[in-house]
Amino acid sequence: MSPTSSSMYSVADKARQSRPIDPSEPFHVSWVKGKTILITGGASGFGASFFRKWAAAGANVIIGDVDDNKGESIVRTVRIATDNVNLHFIHCDVTDWQSQVNFFKEAVKLSPHGGIDAVVANAGVSELKPTFDKPGQLDVEEPPKPNMHVIDVNLVGVLYTTHLALFYLPRNPGSQPADPNNSQRKADESPRDRHLLLIGSMASLLPIPQQILYGTSKHGVLGLFRSLRSTAFTNGVRVNLICPYFVDTAIISPVGRAVLAGSNLAKIEDVVEAASRLMADSRINGRNLVVGPRIKVVETEGEWRYFEQARHEKGTEVSQWEANTDDLENTEVFTRRIIGIMNAAHEMNGWIKWTKDMARALLLMVKEGPMIISTWRRQNGGE
Ligand SMILES: NC(=O)c1ccc[n+]([C@@H]2O[C@H](COP(=O)([O-])OP(=O)(O)OC[C@H]3O[C@@H](n4cnc5c(N)ncnc54)[C@H](O)[C@@H]3O)[C@@H](O)[C@H]2O)c1
Repeated sequence: MSPTSSSMYSVADKARQSRPIDPSEPFHVSWVKGKTILITGGASGFGASFFRKWAAAGANVIIGDVDDNKGESIVRTVRIATDNVNLHFIHCDVTDWQSQVNFFKEAVKLSPHGGIDAVVANAGVSELKPTFDKPGQLDVEEPPKPNMHVIDVNLVGVLYTTHLALFYLPRNPGSQPADPNNSQRKADESPRDRHLLLIGSMASLLPIPQQILYGTSKHGVLGLFRSLRSTAFTNGVRVNLICPYFVDTAIISPVGRAVLAGSNLAKIEDVVEAASRLMADSRINGRNLVVGPRIKVVETEGEWRYFEQARHEKGTEVSQWEANTDDLENTEVFTRRIIGIMNAAHEMNGWIKWTKDMARALLLMVKEGPMIISTWRRQNGGE
C-alpha cells in the first residue's frame, strides 16, 4: 500500500482497469448530476452521507434500508434542503432476494430516464455479541447452528446486490458503457455510465479479532472486487471499492467504541470524498481506495515516512491511498489467460457487431439501391 503520484488515467495493457488514482487530483461532485444512484443501507452512516452529498449535487438517489423510519425521514429532510424531488426511499432487506429485486424494479420506475447508472452495495452490520469462535465454551450436548446474520447481510446481501446491478446496469437506456480505453475522455465529460461501488473495510485487508464473521465477510467483498473487476467490463460496467478504517457511525458496537477510545479514527468526510471521486469520475475503473485516519507523509530519498499525528508540522496530510489493485498486471497463468481470452472475446464482439452492421447495410443497398438511385436521379433532373 502506498500513496501514488500518477496524474494520468489510462488502461493497463491487458487488464481492464484505469491507472492509479491520485487523491490530490481535483474532481467535481457535480459530475454525478442527473445520474440515478441506488444505495443499500442508505438510512444511516456512510449511506446517508453519500445520499446527502449526491442529492445536493443533483443526482437522482434512491435508498433502500430495513429501517423505514430513518429512511423516510432522511428523504423528507433532504428533499426540502436540496429542492431535489428525485430522491426516494424504498424498503429493502438485502438478505431477502425478492426484497432486493423489488428495490431495483421500483427504482427503474422512479428513475427520470428509466435506468440505473450506479449502485452502491453499502448495507452492513457488525457482530454485537460475537460467539462464532467460542463454541467450546457452550455447555451443550450438540452445538447449535451458528448465527450467520453478518454473512447474510455483508456477503450474501452484497452478492445479491452485485448480481442485480450486473443485470440492470447494462439495461440503462442512453448510458455509455464503461470504456477500458476511456483515458482520453476529459474528467468533466463524465457521462451517465454503469458503475458498481462496493464497500469493503480495513477488515478486508487486515485481521479483525473478535469479529470473525465481519472480517470473513469483508475479505469476501475484497475477493468479489478483485475477481469481478477483470470481467465486469464485458457488461460495460466499471467496478470500484473503498476500504475505510473505523469511522464513528452506528455500526461500531459499545465494546468497539471502548477499545478505540482516544485513538485516531478515519473521518466520514474522507470516506464520502473517496466514494464521490469514484462515483463522479467515470474514467476510474477497477480501483480500491483505502480511507484511513489522516496521517502526515514525508518523502525522503524516495522513501515514504509516516507520522501518526496529522498535526505533525512537516509533510503532506493524506487519508486515502490504494491497495490490492496491481494484481492483474503481473499474475499467474490462469488469470493471465482468462483475461487474455476475455479481452479477445470483447474485441471480437466489436468485430462481430461491425460485420453484422455492414452485412445489414449491404443487404439494404442490394434491396433498395436501385430505387434510391432512381429517386436521386429524378430529384437531380437526371431523368
Ligand atoms: N463505520 C465504520 O467504521 C466502517 C468501516 C469500514 C466499513 N464500513 C462499512 O460501511 C457500510 C456502512 O456502515 P455504516 O458505518 O454506515 O453503518 P450504519 O450502521 O450507520 O449503517 C448501516 C445501514 O445498513 C442498514 N442495514 C442493516 N441491515 C440491513 C439489511 N438487512 N438490509 C438493508 N439495510 C440494512 C442499517 O439499517 C443502516 O442504515 C457497511 O458495509 C460497513 O461494514 C463501516
